[in-house]
Amino acid sequence: MQQSRSRQWLFAGMLAFGAPLAHAAQADVTPAQVVTALEGTFGVTPGERRNHTKGTCALGEFVGTREAAAYSRSALFAGKPVPVVARFSVAGGNPKVPDTAKSGRGMALEFRLPDGKLQHMTMLNTPVFGARVPRTFFDQIVAMKPDPATGKPDPAKMKAFLASHPDSRAQAGFLAKNNPPESFATSEYFGIHTFKFIDRQNKTTLVRWRFVPHDGEKRLSDAEMKTAPANFLEQRLIDRTRKGPVRWDMLVSIGKPGDSVDDPTVAWPENRKQFKAGTLTISSAMPQKGAECEKINFDPLVMSDGIAPTNDPILLFRSPAYAASFAKRLSGK
Ligand code: HEM
Repeated sequence: MQQSRSRQWLFAGMLAFGAPLAHAAQADVTPAQVVTALEGTFGVTPGERRNHTKGTCALGEFVGTREAAAYSRSALFAGKPVPVVARFSVAGGNPKVPDTAKSGRGMALEFRLPDGKLQHMTMLNTPVFGARVPRTFFDQIVAMKPDPATGKPDPAKMKAFLASHPDSRAQAGFLAKNNPPESFATSEYFGIHTFKFIDRQNKTTLVRWRFVPHDGEKRLSDAEMKTAPANFLEQRLIDRTRKGPVRWDMLVSIGKPGDSVDDPTVAWPENRKQFKAGTLTISSAMPQKGAECEKINFDPLVMSDGIAPTNDPILLFRSPAYAASFAKRLSGK
């Protein structure tokens, strides 16, 4: 089973290296260069992820709905419980980043479907991403490099980056306005990209999804932002799962003509038709070292039959970038 999983990662990586190479070329920056930029800004923690380095593993299951099964033939929506390996994370390559940092929080899911097939969803707690093309992401990572004099990013460089990259502003605005969640369990997580649901008659529907927490959305208050310790997210999630299962509903919106298909920096209007595609239940959480999620590459292009990517250049670029980081950390670098 493990072997077939690795093959699926490899396949997804090849997909991203093959057809979408044109995107990487247009982007005038390669996935390897972006990973090197992450290392240059955050340093290298040997054997660890180059981005979202700080994280927590979790286990659970997902049950899909009939309504989702009408739009997608994926085994994910067959209505039977599907085991899930999850990882919650804090964005950036600093393993010691405080949990109060005004950056993204991640939820990555590996759905283990029958016959060793997999579906991945690797999401953030922001409704949009901060780059329409890989170059913007690269420029942002470079601009964030700490100034040796202060140990912090140079505010003038960050200002210049925002001024010259309008596609970064919607996510930056969201992160500035909204404090981070008080717990991984009290955050919404967004798929951000547009994906395709394909039904049994091969009909394609353009969709975006998000996971909405049953515990409600709760953020740190301004006072807590000042007093909270550097590390509380992991223990809070472990404690929360010990009290009982933590649940999220997967909500899917259906796009209308004119809605952005390949631009993850633009949200869809809120009045799009929506349906509940399933419920995720997380029943336990644990530190990542040696746990099930540690050695997974949550490549977002690992998809089951019935769910497919769009031509979003960021989505297609992610797969080879994750592969480059994964190859390094697996070899202990
Ligand atoms: C140009 C765009 C992006 C690049 C270059 C990039 C790069 C990376 C890299 C190198 C990793 C570490 C992979 C590993 O070692 O396993 C990572 C992890 C992650 N990224 Fe991205 N990323 C991009 C966009 C996004 C977007 C759009 C999202 C959300 C929709 C996202 C969510 C995450 C999450 C949640 C993780 C942690 C996954 C885990 O827990 O293993 N990233 N990213």
